[in-house]
Amino acid sequence: MHITYQQETKIFHLYNESISYIMTVLPNEHLGQLYFGKRVSEGKDYSYLLEMRSRPMAACVFEDSKLFSLEHIKQEYGVYGTTDYRQPAVEILQENGSRIVDFRFKDYSIVQGKPKLEGLPATYTETPDEAMTLTIYLEDEVTGVCLELLYTIFELGALARSARIINRGKSEVHLLSAMSLCLDLPDCNYDWVQLSGAWARERHVKVRKLEPGITSVGSMRGHSSHEHNPFVVLKRPTADEFQGEAMGFSLIYSGNFLAQSEVDTHDMTRVLMGIHPSCFDWKLESGESFQTPEAVAVYSADGLNGMSRIFHRLYQKRLARGYWRDRVRPILNNNWEATYFDFTQERLMEIAGKAKECGVELFVLDDGWFGQRSHERAGLGDWVANPGRLADGIEGLAEKIENLGMKFGLWFEPEMVNKDSELYRAHPDWIIETPGRSNSHGRFQYVLDFSRKEVVDAIYAMMEKILGGAKVSYVKWDMNRSITECYSKGLPADRQGEVFHRYILGVYDLYDRLVTRFPKVLFESCASGGARFDPGILYYAPQGWASDDSDAVERLKIQYGTSFCYPVSSIGSHVSVVPNHQVFRNTPLHTRANVTYFGTFGYELDLNKLSEEEIVQVKEQIEFMKKYREVLQFGTFYRLCSPFEGNVTAWMAVNEEQTLAVVGWYRVLNGVNMPYSRMRLQGLKEERCYKISGREGRYFGDELMNIGMITTEYSAGEENEWDGYRGDFDSKVFVISAAD
Ligand code: DGJ
Repeated sequence: MHITYQQETKIFHLYNESISYIMTVLPNEHLGQLYFGKRVSEGKDYSYLLEMRSRPMAACVFEDSKLFSLEHIKQEYGVYGTTDYRQPAVEILQENGSRIVDFRFKDYSIVQGKPKLEGLPATYTETPDEAMTLTIYLEDEVTGVCLELLYTIFELGALARSARIINRGKSEVHLLSAMSLCLDLPDCNYDWVQLSGAWARERHVKVRKLEPGITSVGSMRGHSSHEHNPFVVLKRPTADEFQGEAMGFSLIYSGNFLAQSEVDTHDMTRVLMGIHPSCFDWKLESGESFQTPEAVAVYSADGLNGMSRIFHRLYQKRLARGYWRDRVRPILNNNWEATYFDFTQERLMEIAGKAKECGVELFVLDDGWFGQRSHERAGLGDWVANPGRLADGIEGLAEKIENLGMKFGLWFEPEMVNKDSELYRAHPDWIIETPGRSNSHGRFQYVLDFSRKEVVDAIYAMMEKILGGAKVSYVKWDMNRSITECYSKGLPADRQGEVFHRYILGVYDLYDRLVTRFPKVLFESCASGGARFDPGILYYAPQGWASDDSDAVERLKIQYGTSFCYPVSSIGSHVSVVPNHQVFRNTPLHTRANVTYFGTFGYELDLNKLSEEEIVQVKEQIEFMKKYREVLQFGTFYRLCSPFEGNVTAWMAVNEEQTLAVVGWYRVLNGVNMPYSRMRLQGLKEERCYKISGREGRYFGDELMNIGMITTEYSAGEENEWDGYRGDFDSKVFVISAAD
């Protein structure tokens, strides 16, 4: 891994074993992009990649030449209206009303490792040799505004980018757009892949071909959203899971975002990623600066799986942090779908008792334990146990659960308030609302103005008291509505365009204070399921409740899509009752567990309600998870067969030594007289001998990876004897282990 700069050619080359990123200082002293892709030779003069030719109708930069127009130049941080007409990376409104800026190269610096992004979640290094960071300094002489572009190249294969804008001029300016990443690519022969959906069907994989014009996804809801994830891929049309070029772009941010590709009529593609410019207006007084969130770009020549593997490693090891980062996650039982708001301490203890008997390690009390919260309309904001429900308070309940031999976890929704609450009655001005306008609610709740420090302080004080006063080992941090009528009473009129971003900074601040004060508490993020499942939150909470949809079949698509960017250790996943509460489907218990194994694993039901036979199964499932969770959560994950393409889904995880793998195979509908199918595995050692759980014989790695493993066992209409499960929604988990 290196970063070089050639003085004569003015070329920067960042490379590691697999990728190269090449830039140059352009003739007008802006920063130009030359190449991003598979690693190429170092020390070569790549200046010929710069287009210097006269084109009809082009507006040109130099008075005496027709050879240089930014319209046709690949840049690193484009500005609109400077002969470039594409969507800009940066837009700065100045005192005289102009938005033209001219960022010219001044200097650069290269350091080992990676500097911290103050106040923002970001990837990091543990030792300086894991990465190198290049900072390029540019300046707009007319306004005195300076731009710093940061590039970190990781040994792990990824490139992290962000920008800092500093007003060193005398007058204030307004930042109307400041992207984290702007990348101009030389062609447009790409499929665009996005993860989209809605509540209870998050992160479905959607693919379409890039065409001239803009393709984009984003969020304007104040959080990253169920609808779109801050993650997109450009892949070659011929690339698939296993081969071909794929570039993934991910934004480490939890607020409004934009991810966009613009194809111009000369087939160049500009990728932009950053805070959504709509509603964004950041005032920069003289001397003030703005740091954008970080974006991560990954290039893989080994298809989508290759790309995902790089994201998984980086996000698992160098984005997630703390005590739980490398630890297998406790098997939990959450009471939400078991009781909803209808519980007493006795009822909780009944559920917990059975959970303990089955081998569960952590009991989680969800919504409804505080204030007057016995329904959706009251209590949010009052983070004090309701004595009517919990006679011994959280302290007493936690103690009881610990005495049972389990850890105790607790639900919060720190950012919200009901009007029927002590907090709202004391501070009606603490909510986000526009003066003189009606204020919309979501689930009868209102968003606290986390752009104000005093609000964050007050919530921190309440949470600190609960967590510090009881044996709480886990926190589920929920967030159940989007921001509307966005306005902060704590900011002047000319700073209202800052509220969305300041709100998220407030969320990060509270998270940071809590994870610092309680370093051993496991935080799980949640936002009506997966509405804030993004890399920003992963920095604070190493796992997230992936979706409120706990149906096994629905989860195949949700977890498959989520795995494009996020590691299995981050995917919160629970076995729930049938008929399922979201889609009313009946799936067999073994399939519900087989899907859930590829996640953090837990139960979202009252185990007392299961039959004796089912309890035997549950005990076996928990034993299985305890035995294999290291490889399931921290092994190398491969998607084998997509739920978006057919009736069968499959995936697998392999340990680092390639001696142990777990394969999950799922068939949605049974069929009649089905083919004798094989499934090609991945990630094994070719020459090594393996055995497959429940099967006779030995198989070489190359055999399992090239010929495949037989997956068909039974289908209706066959005459063979079969005493296994017969029907729809079947699945199997195979353990592949090295044999002599
Ligand atoms: C939404 C979450 O996704 C659920 O798991 C549950 O915690 C409810 N909120 C509680 O209100």
